[in-house]
Amino acid sequence: MIQRELDFPDVVRLPDEAFAEFPTTRYQGSKRKLLPFLYEACKSYDFSSVLDLYSGTSSVGLMFRHMGKIVYANDYMLYNWTTGKVLLGATKSSIAGIDIPALIERAFSKNPQSNSLVYENFSGIYFPDDENHQIDNFCSNLLQFSPVEADLLIYLMGQAMLMKRPYNLFHRANLEMRTKDVPRSFGNAKTWETPFSTHMLKLGQKISSCSFTGPIGEAYCMNASEIDGMNVDPDLIYLDPPYLNRNNIPVDYSTFYHFLDGLVDYSLFSQGNAKYPHRPIALKPSRWRTPGGGLAEIRSVLDRWPTARAAISYRGDGRPSVEELKAILDGAGYVINEHTAVDYKYALSKNFDATEDLIIGTPARLT
Ligand SMILES: C[S@@+](CC[C@H](N)C(=O)[O-])C[C@H]1O[C@@H](n2cnc3c(N)ncnc32)[C@H](O)[C@@H]1O
Repeated sequence: MIQRELDFPDVVRLPDEAFAEFPTTRYQGSKRKLLPFLYEACKSYDFSSVLDLYSGTSSVGLMFRHMGKIVYANDYMLYNWTTGKVLLGATKSSIAGIDIPALIERAFSKNPQSNSLVYENFSGIYFPDDENHQIDNFCSNLLQFSPVEADLLIYLMGQAMLMKRPYNLFHRANLEMRTKDVPRSFGNAKTWETPFSTHMLKLGQKISSCSFTGPIGEAYCMNASEIDGMNVDPDLIYLDPPYLNRNNIPVDYSTFYHFLDGLVDYSLFSQGNAKYPHRPIALKPSRWRTPGGGLAEIRSVLDRWPTARAAISYRGDGRPSVEELKAILDGAGYVINEHTAVDYKYALSKNFDATEDLIIGTPARLT
């Protein structure tokens, strides 16, 4: 059964006041800007725990935590797992107990025993050599910190590294975009040349002012194809998977963000795949290489947690199609509620493909 609800665009156009304290992100497909819409769509359902199976930046997990839910975040990238540990594990007082500027200063202090994997393997690829040495030095220093401090530093450093990359990605060996003497936007050039530590201090301030309301959650780092091994029992599963684009081209997050995983496991920097110019250090298999594989994964999620609600984020032009997703829920006997945020600009241009949907499926036995 399908019930359609249109949540018209006000929540998308309004300033994001409720979630202003949440850290911003430069992550492809982040739902950070859509949190008011997701919140409105989810708030009237009855659930107390959530699994965010493809958690990315954990922005949505942080929102659910804010709503008082117990949140389990999962992502197959090590860096995203670390982000989940930081944002779901922090409390106002645990963060207040950390002197973030002093922590950052120590993390960049000269370490005579520093290794040089980044300098040796990635010279000329992503960052200039002085910054490659800084990354090596930073990683060597991480051993001196407690696990909680090291995770916070990794989270901050990863965000700083993203900010200093053209397109905020690691999918091309394109350092020359930074170094070549060509006209470029002043904003980009300034952000790229700003030191890691300066970006980290700014984000550290943001983290210090975040209230981290809600219960402490947990983060996992598993491939969603292996959910049988995931020992959690959530009331709602939030799914924001890597849809293929309208031409059936898959989006491989591991090729976009692989380099950040080296902050979590330094030895990965020696394992770059030389077959590709950008030497990815952490390519992962995914069922989302084909629309059929993605649908099979959704089906296995419903089989694994048959009593949980499924909330599926969907952008109007992805593959598999929204009709195919709804057909799976419908076939499994779920009652479907569809919430749609129509971006005002796109609505005016009549591009109705550019909607953001949240489909909430409720198992019949809960209705
Ligand atoms: C669209 S993004 C999620 C964005 C997230 N909702 C946010 O607001 O930041 C999809 C995420 O799925 C993760 N991912 C892709 N394939 C995966 C898999 N097979 N298992 C677990 N995570 C996967 C990617 O690393 C990426 O972070």
